[in-house]
Amino acid sequence: MEISREAREFWERAGAGKTFTHPLDRELLDAYVPRDVPVLDYGCGYGRLTAELMAAGYADVRGVDVSRALVERGRREHPEVRIEHCARLPLPFGDASFGAALLFAVLTCVPGTAQQREIVAELGRVVRPGGVLYVSDMPLQRDRWDVARYEEYADRFGTYGVFGTPDGGVFRHHEPDRLRGLVRAHGFTVEAERTDVVPTLDGRTAERLQIIGRRQG
Ligand SMILES: C[S@@+](CC[C@H](N)C(=O)[O-])C[C@H]1O[C@@H](n2cnc3c(N)ncnc32)[C@H](O)[C@@H]1O
Repeated sequence: MEISREAREFWERAGAGKTFTHPLDRELLDAYVPRDVPVLDYGCGYGRLTAELMAAGYADVRGVDVSRALVERGRREHPEVRIEHCARLPLPFGDASFGAALLFAVLTCVPGTAQQREIVAELGRVVRPGGVLYVSDMPLQRDRWDVARYEEYADRFGTYGVFGTPDGGVFRHHEPDRLRGLVRAHGFTVEAERTDVVPTLDGRTAERLQIIGRRQG
């Protein structure tokens, strides 16, 4: 399943100029992602975290993204990182070719459940048994402003938690159990979780949920 035309246009234009803010959690990274394994940064955007991983001592890191504009920006801003444009799945990597994959603030940009499943299934294919899927994303928020926009958009998008932004983006905040189920359904056990508060794309702060999945053998 390909990214929709509207979403592609957003991530080639308005979305491609944004400053991404969703931070790596160095404690989780150090605890669960060994420095000597190949790491995939799926949905790497302009390579912000791909570059941070390299600077942290990860020698074999690759990023992929569906947005050509973001990949080109990444190559300009971080010429030291290996990032590639991948418009569709499957990824151009063999089965079990990575020891870990990062999925950072990507599922929030993928409103459709089927497309989310396709992404996590593909990461289940390329992460080797015993390897790690490190997901960091946005659970449903409890503040009145977010709840109001979930309610406002629920009829239009048919899914509670999906909402639009004035610049044409469509995003999703997730029921935490559904996120855990997504990870488990594609060959990972949930080994650790952490919640904290992080800056968002629109200059606010929000709760985030991190999940460490371990690929079953
Ligand atoms: C908020 S950015 C996060 C980028 C990067 N992970 C970071 O944290 O800096 C979300 C990324 O998801 C990508 N994306 C959007 N829709 C997607 C889709 N349907 N499938 C895969 N990736 C998508 C965008 O191109 C964008 O780079």
